[in-house]
Amino acid sequence: MDYKEYIEIVENWPKEGIRFKDITPLMADGPAFKSAVDEIVEYAKEKEIDVVVGPEARGFIVGCPVSYALEIGFAPVRKEGKLPREVIKVDYGLEYGKNILTIHKDAISPGQRVLITDDLLATGGTIEATINLVEQLGGIVVGCAFLVELGYLDGKDKLDGYDVLTIMTY
Ligand code: PRP
Repeated sequence: MDYKEYIEIVENWPKEGIRFKDITPLMADGPAFKSAVDEIVEYAKEKEIDVVVGPEARGFIVGCPVSYALEIGFAPVRKEGKLPREVIKVDYGLEYGKNILTIHKDAISPGQRVLITDDLLATGGTIEATINLVEQLGGIVVGCAFLVELGYLDGKDKLDGYDVLTIMTY
């Protein structure tokens, strides 16, 4: 399937010079969205994953259906101040800004095998920060899966040594 047909490129959003890749048309098409999610589920099946982790907000959109299909749990990574119980934190840089990400301290047990999901790999700052959180808790990152990779931003350089699946590359 040519998934790029379902990605809308929005010029100069949210800032001048950014070509935003809008995944909502893909989400709006039931068969196309299911097919894209199923590719990640198939990728994950052989990895004996214990928990799926995804950063807000669009990492939830990809990660939750994957965890549902695999019948395993999903742990949210959220921006600071959003999770109600004890968290660990990490600072990270973004394609357009800076932020702090958090995860509940008890979201992952040491030795658990983790799949990280997100809609998009840009500079890799978000995924690097998410990996940092998982590893602080003793989780083993056995895969990172994205719908879209912006190859020209070299985010994959930050994922050296990790197993990565991307469904579309720009
Ligand atoms: C976007 C996107 C990824 C991240 C990719 O999220 O959903 O999580 O940026 O960029 P990076 O590889 O340069 O880190 P954003 O922080 O805009 O949050 P949102 O999903 O809540 O809009």
